[in-house]
Amino acid sequence: MTERQLVETIPSVKGRYNLQSYESAYSTFRWDEIKTQFTWHQTGNCNLAYEAIDRHAQGSLKNKTALIYEDDARKEKYTFEQLSQISNRFGNLLLKLGIGQGDRVFFFMPRNPEIYTGIIGTIKIGAIVGPLFEAFMEGAVLDRLADAEAVAIVTTSALKQRIPRDKLPHLKYVIVVDEQEQWLPGEIDYRQEMAEASDELDIAWVDLEHPFILHYTSGSTGKPKGVLHVHGAMIQHYITGKWVLDLQDDDIYWCTGDPGWVTGTTYGIFAPWLNGATNLIRGGRFSPERWYQTIEDYKVTVWYSAPTAFRMLMSAGDEVARKSDLSTLRHVLSVGEPLNPEVIRWGMKVFGKRIHDTWWMTETGAHMIVNFPCMDMRPGSMGKPFPGIQAAIVDDQGNELPPYRLGNLAIRTPWPSMMRKIWNNPAKYEEYFRLKGWYISGDSAYRDEDGYFWFQGRVDDVINTSGERVGPFDVESKLVEHPAVAEAGVIGKPDPIRGEIIKAFISLREGYRETPELLEEIRLFVRNGLSAHSAPREIEVVGKLPKTRSGKIMRRVLKAQELGLPTGDLSTIED
Ligand code: PRX
Repeated sequence: MTERQLVETIPSVKGRYNLQSYESAYSTFRWDEIKTQFTWHQTGNCNLAYEAIDRHAQGSLKNKTALIYEDDARKEKYTFEQLSQISNRFGNLLLKLGIGQGDRVFFFMPRNPEIYTGIIGTIKIGAIVGPLFEAFMEGAVLDRLADAEAVAIVTTSALKQRIPRDKLPHLKYVIVVDEQEQWLPGEIDYRQEMAEASDELDIAWVDLEHPFILHYTSGSTGKPKGVLHVHGAMIQHYITGKWVLDLQDDDIYWCTGDPGWVTGTTYGIFAPWLNGATNLIRGGRFSPERWYQTIEDYKVTVWYSAPTAFRMLMSAGDEVARKSDLSTLRHVLSVGEPLNPEVIRWGMKVFGKRIHDTWWMTETGAHMIVNFPCMDMRPGSMGKPFPGIQAAIVDDQGNELPPYRLGNLAIRTPWPSMMRKIWNNPAKYEEYFRLKGWYISGDSAYRDEDGYFWFQGRVDDVINTSGERVGPFDVESKLVEHPAVAEAGVIGKPDPIRGEIIKAFISLREGYRETPELLEEIRLFVRNGLSAHSAPREIEVVGKLPKTRSGKIMRRVLKAQELGLPTGDLSTIED
């Protein structure tokens, strides 16, 4: 991209938005002013969970519904006061086990109310939450718990089978939330302990720099890395919830993200509750009918989802959408992958509303570049930097590039919700900040002359399938553990619904022959070892993989070949 192109604009719609003018907010913004909203602003002794729940429970929102939970089996509602009491009990349960500040407590469950109250309770005692996807299989669970040296995990009787306790010497307690017949040593009966625990809890008052959550995410090399965030992130959770999600007193807010993913914590837990909003959580699987019905049943007003979900709804057809009353929706947002202009146009048709794209990452902890309701929207653009955030396109030396030049999407450091550490890996952390004063995102993008940012792709080989970040190295390592696989190279292949799918190229060991059964077995091997979303949807057997002379598999060559594109510079290839 080198010059201005004609772009489509969808004008802002007038309304009572919390943010009325982007330009004036951007020019006058100060993080220090946002801090005055919090009870701790003079002492600096804080607790994110207290601000999100207890402050409201002790004030005028005491009896307001904080959580509406629904799945195919359970339908429940909790007020701020109830959430405060249940999370206090959970905090006491942990304290009784001798768990305290800085200890890592993991959550490995399908979505249910207990995850939400458990996460809040864990943060209240100053411990660190480690959320996992329920889809993780043994290998994925082991990698994360071992790296974090977790002391406890909260899970179900079904999922606990995937926790290899014999390989986890630090893991003292497995807290099981449902009933089971046999209790093994070290297993804690959640129901019984919660029934006995007190509603009153001594909250841990911590420093703004005290950690509260560790989200594991993938890069292009090595095992998943633990991204650590601190209580001070609440400043940004709060103000982005207010201005970007535009949460107001009477909203019913639904974020479809699972807490295993940062969207499901920052915007599925903290931002809505810091703003005192009613937060709807839907468990269970994706289904267009039920999702639309959920909007109608609960009169959802603000809805935050992801491009893959919107594309699946789009492909289910407009008929399905028309069966439910979606007229309560007043604000719709998207995150995780590029939002196609076509999907925005479809959204205008079925919701009568713009879908607002937001760009950020696990590492940034909260929104960075967004579309505000008060802003004209350019479909295909991620929008503009949040006030207080300075974003730029820089070259590999850290020099800022002019409009329309493609380069590294970078953010000027620091900001309140910026990650503070990669767990056990300071070198990895430093890599993000290698260009002085900038955080380097790993995304490539350009900026137009009016300050809108346009996402182009990843700089590295990280795959984004249905919004899930998958590291090719992780999948390759699992593939070569299979006895039939000699070598493996894994790429993201463009897909109209999922953004990308995982495609694996493998070569077979002597004595193995390619059959559909063998390929299926290999696919299941990855699925059962890592997780469903890491399993390659396509596997192609090749004689030999393109490698550098030092033996590194050249994924970009595989990708170019797959897409029928020029393979580029091959000077480092083996032969
Ligand atoms: O490549 C970008 C893509 O998702 C990556 C971050 O993934 P993750 O840490 O799992 O967090 C996603 C939820 C915050 C980014 O580096 N990505 C995220 N949002 C967008 C996006 N790509 C294009 N447009 C977006 N709005």
